[in-house]
Amino acid sequence: MDKIAAGSRYKGLSRRNERMQPMPLIIAKRAGYCYGVRRAVETALQAAEENGGCLTLGSIIHNPQAVASLAEKGAVCAPQAEDIPQGAVCVIRSHGEPPETYELLRQKGVRIVDATCPTVSRIQRMVEEAGRAGRRVIVVGKESHPEVKGILGWSMGMGEAVITEEEAERLAPSQEALVVCQTTLSIQRYQRVCAAIAKRIAEPDIRKTNCQATVLRREEAAEIASRADAMIVVGGSESSNTRELWELCKSLCPRSVRIECAEEIDPSEYKPGDLIGITAGASTPEGTFKEVVARMNDIENKEQIIENTEAESDFMADVEKTLRQIRPGQVIMGTVVQITEDEVCVNVGYKADGLVKKSDLSSTDVKVGDEIEVEVVKVNDGEGNVLCSQRNIVNRKAWDAIVAASEADEFVEGTGKEAVKGGLIAQIEGIRAFIPASQLSLRYVEKIDEFVGQTMKLKIIELDKTKKRVVASRKAVLAIEEAEKKKAIWGTLEVGSVVKGIVRRLTDFGAFVDIGGVDGLVHVTDLSWGRVHHPSDVVTVGQEIEVKIKNVDTERERISLSYKETQPRPWDVAGEKYAVGTVVEGKVVRITTFGAFVELEPGLDGLVHISQCALTRIEKVEDALHVGDVVRVKILDVNTESRRISLSVREVLEDEALETVPESADEYAIDDIPAVEE
Ligand code: F3S
Repeated sequence: MDKIAAGSRYKGLSRRNERMQPMPLIIAKRAGYCYGVRRAVETALQAAEENGGCLTLGSIIHNPQAVASLAEKGAVCAPQAEDIPQGAVCVIRSHGEPPETYELLRQKGVRIVDATCPTVSRIQRMVEEAGRAGRRVIVVGKESHPEVKGILGWSMGMGEAVITEEEAERLAPSQEALVVCQTTLSIQRYQRVCAAIAKRIAEPDIRKTNCQATVLRREEAAEIASRADAMIVVGGSESSNTRELWELCKSLCPRSVRIECAEEIDPSEYKPGDLIGITAGASTPEGTFKEVVARMNDIENKEQIIENTEAESDFMADVEKTLRQIRPGQVIMGTVVQITEDEVCVNVGYKADGLVKKSDLSSTDVKVGDEIEVEVVKVNDGEGNVLCSQRNIVNRKAWDAIVAASEADEFVEGTGKEAVKGGLIAQIEGIRAFIPASQLSLRYVEKIDEFVGQTMKLKIIELDKTKKRVVASRKAVLAIEEAEKKKAIWGTLEVGSVVKGIVRRLTDFGAFVDIGGVDGLVHVTDLSWGRVHHPSDVVTVGQEIEVKIKNVDTERERISLSYKETQPRPWDVAGEKYAVGTVVEGKVVRITTFGAFVELEPGLDGLVHISQCALTRIEKVEDALHVGDVVRVKILDVNTESRRISLSVREVLEDEALETVPESADEYAIDDIPAVEE
């Protein structure tokens, strides 16, 4: 008897060629343990080995032989949670359990090893989220099936199960409900029941929760059954997926039988030339499947058995080939398939889904269907899921950016987060950095708190890649910026040009003026055209003034400025301003033997000759005037060329005297006044 493995090198043989074999076999590639069952069996064996035995809550697979074999290896089946003694190690099978079971076991101090299939866990999480939100949950599946019981348990009392269209049509009507299905339900049946549900629920939120491994297994079985003369479906009598598989095969190939093991094969049912298909349910051990194939072959034909083994290996290898290999630290793309309150579930093309805690997302702005980049933290988080993180990627990118900036001597941007002893904690691209108080500013900083919430440019001054420690400085940035600014300013300083500046500091010898980043000195003699005792007589600190650049000494970094040269020279306008004959006020600033100098304005003094100091003749100037006196003087002459102004106090006094003569005096002619006798 030859064997034809679907999808193997025999695939492609025509039906006519298949008929040429005495009793050809078509062996399904997708037969036997599914990923979830295999994982649960391995978990149970490992738990038994590590703990000197363990209990499984219910049969870990629907196959009595396999259950017996597991018991021999220390993984014994305990039918109910109540049967599990205190302190035992208990493996939860791939079907999962409701939360009450976990609670009961925990209360008994039982150590739980959870082997719930990740596909089932995903449904439980969906249902739990809906239940918490107070949403109605409908599970399409057999209410008595352990998986459905478990799922309903997570619905917070909001769930109900239906398995037939009739049951669905009897559902209480409602506006909305989450609809999920038992993983092993056929897509066709789910669609039919959903159509019935849609008659009762206005807006059903239908999720496709059928197990993909089961879907593929059924598709392949259907394809084989549609061309086979007889079909053998191997699997436990308790297994619902085996029963569904058998029912499917029977609908396409009436000579389909369901068996648990090779011994149940009745050779009389098959005749030479029959094309016989063989498949198996998800809980069928490889050994059992091999025995069936071997029995259907000539038992003496060892070659066939070897080929069969290869075929099964091929099957597993093909499955594995479709799965991505992952390792911790690997960055991979995945599709968001579910979002719960705390986690985002991502299909990463691996046999288990990736879970990203919301706190580990770089942005919570994700929706189902989004492609996101995640880093594998743990291939198995202990519950069969791949633990992933986006934060790690962001942190690593941020760290790389900081390292690159540091190596390139570039500035980075940081925000003050917290004032601590000795400095400030800042965030640079999400990475914590320390800024010592002495590095916060060019000047002493009294209140570090002022920098909290402030975004600033920083320079990395210390970087420990191993300890991931970053020390930054704002002062270094300011110093560099100031130096650059100064350099730029020095390049633009032009002797003779007039620039704006701010008076920063006053000393006895002058005023320091900031002309845009550099300070220049206005010497006291350059502050005014007149005499200045102290710079404060002319300018005040903070005052904005215009200054003329007198000299620039780049080597000694000194700039001489003049304020007075931006003011009009008093002599230039003295002619127009002080017309001959006018009377103005001035201050006596100096006395000489020949007269007194009177300041009309800063930088403009006039001379009152001794003969012009009083109405009568005086011996010395001090007889009439003193330094500091403010006097009214008449302009007698202005000579701008020789810079001389002649003034007279006497004429002012004479004019005033005349003004005080009584009006009637005007009636006298000068000649009428009698001459004074000598
Ligand atoms: Fe899981 Fe699918 Fe098997 S749901 S247990 S992989 S049939």
